[in-house]
Amino acid sequence: MDERQKNVSLVLAVNGERFELPCVDPSTTLLHFLRSETCFKSPKLGCGEGGCGACVVLVSKYDPNVKKVEDFSVSSCLTLLCSLNGCSITTSEGLGNTRDGFHSIHERFAGFHASQCGFCTPGMCMSFFSALINADKGNKPDPPPGFSKLTSSEAEKAIAGNLCRCTGYRPIADACKSFASDVDIEDLGFNSFLKKGDSKEVKVSKLPPYDPTKNFSTYPEFLKSESATNSESSRRYPWYSSVSIEELRSLLYSNVTENGASFKLIVGNTGTGYYKETQRYDHYIDLRYIPEPSIIKRDQTGIEVGAAVTISKLISFLKEENKVNLGSYGMLVSQKLANHMEKIASPFVRNSASVGGNLVMAQKNGFPSDIATLFLGLCATVSLMTSHGFEKLTWEELLSRPPLDSRTVLLSVCIPFKQDQSSLQIHSEADVSLCQKGLLINNIQLAFGAYGTKHATRAKKVEEYLTGKILNIHVLYEALKLVKLAVVPEDGTLHPEYRSSLAVNYVYEFLHPFTDVHSAISGGLLNGISDILVEELSKSCNDGCISQGREQTLLSSAKQVVELSTEYYPVGEPMKKVGAAKQASGEAVYVDDIPSPPNCLHGAFIYSTKPSAGVKGIQLESNRSTDGVTTIITFKDIPSGGENVGVITMSDPEPLFADDLARCAGDKIALVVADSQRSADVAARTALVEYDTENIYSPILTVEEAVEKSSFFQIAP
Ligand SMILES: Cc1cc2nc3c(=O)[nH]c(=O)nc-3n(C[C@H](O)[C@H](O)[C@H](O)COP(=O)(O)OP(=O)(O)OC[C@H]3O[C@@H](n4cnc5c(N)ncnc54)[C@H](O)[C@@H]3O)c2cc1C
Ligand code: FES
Ligand code: FES
Repeated sequence: MDERQKNVSLVLAVNGERFELPCVDPSTTLLHFLRSETCFKSPKLGCGEGGCGACVVLVSKYDPNVKKVEDFSVSSCLTLLCSLNGCSITTSEGLGNTRDGFHSIHERFAGFHASQCGFCTPGMCMSFFSALINADKGNKPDPPPGFSKLTSSEAEKAIAGNLCRCTGYRPIADACKSFASDVDIEDLGFNSFLKKGDSKEVKVSKLPPYDPTKNFSTYPEFLKSESATNSESSRRYPWYSSVSIEELRSLLYSNVTENGASFKLIVGNTGTGYYKETQRYDHYIDLRYIPEPSIIKRDQTGIEVGAAVTISKLISFLKEENKVNLGSYGMLVSQKLANHMEKIASPFVRNSASVGGNLVMAQKNGFPSDIATLFLGLCATVSLMTSHGFEKLTWEELLSRPPLDSRTVLLSVCIPFKQDQSSLQIHSEADVSLCQKGLLINNIQLAFGAYGTKHATRAKKVEEYLTGKILNIHVLYEALKLVKLAVVPEDGTLHPEYRSSLAVNYVYEFLHPFTDVHSAISGGLLNGISDILVEELSKSCNDGCISQGREQTLLSSAKQVVELSTEYYPVGEPMKKVGAAKQASGEAVYVDDIPSPPNCLHGAFIYSTKPSAGVKGIQLESNRSTDGVTTIITFKDIPSGGENVGVITMSDPEPLFADDLARCAGDKIALVVADSQRSADVAARTALVEYDTENIYSPILTVEEAVEKSSFFQIAP
């Protein structure tokens, strides 16, 4: 490793421009780098936790062995800069801009009135662009001129997870769907391109042109030669990209990670979207370059997935036509897994989130993971590398063990395709046979997650009860009673009754249609069972496993007739907003885009976590979370003659800081000032506030109480 880690800098391209960074704090996110070190401000800081899509950019990686570029969207607020050595980043400015001309995505967002304040628009455009180029790279038949290979449904799904708080999603979806090869142009809503009465051809010709054959280069040529030679980390910053299990093992037990140095295993870093990172690590160990955790294969016996495989890669793999005959159970599991995994997070999170990262979060932190529940229901086994060597065990066993230590590495997961182990879980499958009297349950596994226990669990008593029984309404009724007893949230879980009843309803909804199978099949459409269900049911029974639920599509469809009056012309004309394309390309400047003066300090509020509580003291955690903190400001620091005034509303002005008493949860108690926004945020988040809740008046929670206590706002004259 020493030989490979000769002072190599981090090299990447942003919109075709080369950046060489000899020294980087490994906790730096791509978003922070783009917004503070480059002129590209189109990725915005919205939530900072992977939940809104305002920061989405395109990452392109070149594989010199197969000479192919892989393009995918990511949330730049979670992606660590050091993980992008040799990568090319495209932001919305890179797609097009005022100087070089806008991209048709920008122009269509503008013309479909899909950008109101515009804060979300560059991220939307990049999510959509990622789907568009990947669809056009695929081997579907060529679309009609002016269109992409993308379907309307895929166009809608491309922006799932990109939130917009002001435009409304219809114009946004319409702008995206206008590229789809199967779009009904008449379905598209109000816009400034299409005129009523025009023929379809004329309408298409009026849309800003899109030509998929005109390749947009996402990966600059100069980086191709560099990526072949420069794929390793620099010694100047503590980021390790091991390339073999042996290397990883020696690193984990070397002096790099011993002697009290802190380190973190890492794949996509999306876990920090859920568990806010307050600690700084001495070393980061990237698992993506090691072959074992990166494998993915499937045959008649099952699926093997490396822990570092991303959720998106697993979905695409499961959807691929497989040349090997997987058997009906294997096909069913593949299809169900893919369908469920498409509901996890958003495309831009799934593109970097790994399967293993998700499972480790579930095992170590009790994360309410979908994948943990799915794999529990599917009897998955896992392979680990521990301090003692290599170990294989069932996922269920691993879940019941104490949290993994920081040196244990999850290598891969196997999902068996064994009929005798087939399962029903929150996602619905059961091993059955159709007999004279109805549906016989040979074997059933019920896994429930995220209902208020530390880990996903199996309802074993219900499984035992149902196994070997012919399903009828009485059996189902008894089973539901047992589900209610089995799915019991731990004390302190919010809405426990709701959670248990959801589990009961789920099992009911899954099994009930099959309680009268015999008469349904022999008598056609008896008991309200629909055609599709009978068809599905027969197929399921032939397969030996029941599988409920048809594939849902997100696609919505609507027609709108807008009658325009010329009385107040041009008022009422659908005109493009001036500046909308600039908002889409990310060139519109928002307050947060104005560069900070050099050496300026940054602030973060400490908010009260208790309502109506006295504030006795504030302490910053004495570890490294105080790094860079300059001071803490409270109401006491307001100089004499100054006023404690924050927002001035129609009634009373609101205080800036809570004084000795925090009035509500969320009241601002103090401002931490630090040399970077990150230091201020971490210090504010980890600050310990000592509250005094004794002898404090009880809060006023109803209008009646307010009247009784004469607690009124003073209306301004
Ligand atoms: C906005 C958002 C929405 C989400 N929605 C869902 C959802 O609907 N359903 C759901 O199930 N999940 C959801 N997730 C969770 C997501 O699936 C996980 O964050 C992701 O899979 C973690 O993978 P990662 O590669 O980013 O892990 P990282 O963030 O890189 O790592 C996570 C943790 O696991 C450790 N780790 C990673 N890989 C290994 C390994 N192989 N061996 C040992 N330790 C390891 C790391 O040290 C770290 O502690 C969501 C996440 C976000 C941010
Ligand atoms: S800022 Fe919201 S996803 Fe990144
Ligand atoms: S947040 Fe989407 S346009 Fe304002």
